[in-house]
Amino acid sequence: MNEWSQALSGHPSAGDRVSVRTISGNRGLQIEEPLIFEQDSAGHCGVDLPEAPSAKSRLGALERKGSIGLPGLTEPQIVRHFTRLSQKNYAIDSGLYPLGSCTMKHNPRLNEKMARLPGFADIHPLQPVSTVQGALELIDTLAHWLKTLTGMPAVALSPAAGAHGELCGIMTIRAALEARGDKRSRILVPESAHGTNPATAAATGYEVEAIPANAKGTKNQGRVDVAALKAKLGPDVAALMLTNPNTCGLFEDQILEIAEAVHRAGAFFYCDGANFNAIVGRVRPAELGIDAFHINLHKTFSTPHGGGGPGSGPVVLAAELAPHAPLPWVVHGANGFNLIEHAQSDAARTIGRLKGFHGQMGMFVRALAYMMSHGSDGLKQVAEDAVLNANYLRVRLAGAMSLAFPGICMHEVLFDDSFLKDTGVTTFDFAKALIDEGFHPMTMYFPLVVHGALLIEPTETESKASLDQLAAVLRGLAARAKSGDAEAYRTAPHLTPRRRLDETAAARKPVLRWRPAPVQQQAAE
Ligand SMILES: Cc1ncc(COP(=O)(O)O)c(C=O)c1O
Repeated sequence: MNEWSQALSGHPSAGDRVSVRTISGNRGLQIEEPLIFEQDSAGHCGVDLPEAPSAKSRLGALERKGSIGLPGLTEPQIVRHFTRLSQKNYAIDSGLYPLGSCTMKHNPRLNEKMARLPGFADIHPLQPVSTVQGALELIDTLAHWLKTLTGMPAVALSPAAGAHGELCGIMTIRAALEARGDKRSRILVPESAHGTNPATAAATGYEVEAIPANAKGTKNQGRVDVAALKAKLGPDVAALMLTNPNTCGLFEDQILEIAEAVHRAGAFFYCDGANFNAIVGRVRPAELGIDAFHINLHKTFSTPHGGGGPGSGPVVLAAELAPHAPLPWVVHGANGFNLIEHAQSDAARTIGRLKGFHGQMGMFVRALAYMMSHGSDGLKQVAEDAVLNANYLRVRLAGAMSLAFPGICMHEVLFDDSFLKDTGVTTFDFAKALIDEGFHPMTMYFPLVVHGALLIEPTETESKASLDQLAAVLRGLAARAKSGDAEAYRTAPHLTPRRRLDETAAARKPVLRWRPAPVQQQAAE
């Protein structure tokens, strides 16, 4: 504790602060931010433009007579408004973000610098190829890295997210089956899968069949029940979609046997590679018998995640699937790089386009910058450190929270809610209390194979000090819950700009549109 925090430690506790009422409604430097329309003051403007020269209007009756309703604000008002809004966002740049399955890891600033180089940032996808040779070379080099790291012969770079990569992979599988004259109807998906897996299978017209996981306390617990899988395989199965490491943070160690059974049934083996960050540089998916594998660049290769920004989910493909890869293809010829943009000659069997152009160039630059700055040995260490950090937390928390499955985990550690039994505190309450302690909650209630799941993925970029802080807070919260303080949890968070929200109503009935009060409307007209 430094001098300043020591001086403060005699001040009211967090609980006392909750009841402090301020004159402004602000809480310290947390400003109550009105909507931009509520800050409107007629006549205010951020720019001072000369009068428009008078010109004869040809709009006639179409000419707008009233105001268009934009708020009047000065430049300082606007700058403050958006700066304050940005400060309400929690982000990986603000602190540890332990969301499991989502991999919120540090986005290195070097990647950002590279992505802003004008030669990458200011080009247009419709420019003649002779003027974008460097960008095409970058795409080709990224493809080379992805193929080398996965051991697969081809990669489709255009998918815009993991889920889009799944769509691409299953569409190529369907095309390959049709090319064999072997139309099939079912896709098998383990119960622990991310929701996008069954959604993809259903969206591509397949019947989805769930495969159970081995129950807690049984052999290979938390992993796919291989006997149940084999029983469901048959001549109508198009593919298995398996995640490895799986969403319980466990390596599916029977994967070779699984791949062999899937292939024996004439089906393809799709692997959800969202968790590649746990094995990159150590295991090549091709050697596990995988036919198609998507990679979320934001998870493994540190591109920005969240905020609905542009994503990238390249899919690596086995030789039989490669001819069906989506357009465009970047190829290397005698005169440098070129593009195949139409379904003809070598690309005659493509599934077509999944996206307007090549994919998310900005993400490609960032991912390649990450790969090149780490090198293959550095990427291997990334995976090792991600696994080490998750296991460090597993051991630090084992006595306080209930591990879903015993033994070493991969890049994320899964707890169930049995440590909260009889406390009156739910997983949801527990996660909300974590916000008051200055941490973003972990992933809750996923995967579904575990009751009240709490899934923590610290990532490799967290230091031992930050992991110790998180572990101390989680241990403290678990102890407090067990000591019978359920009421404090039920109303958490207490220190945020808004308290506990009705999240179902927020999701189902979101208020997304500002409507002027009736009086203001009349004045505007
Ligand atoms: C296991 C798994 N599969 C698929 C996805 C979907 O990826 P995206 O969100 O990029 O569409 C995720 C996302 O976190 C995931 O964790």
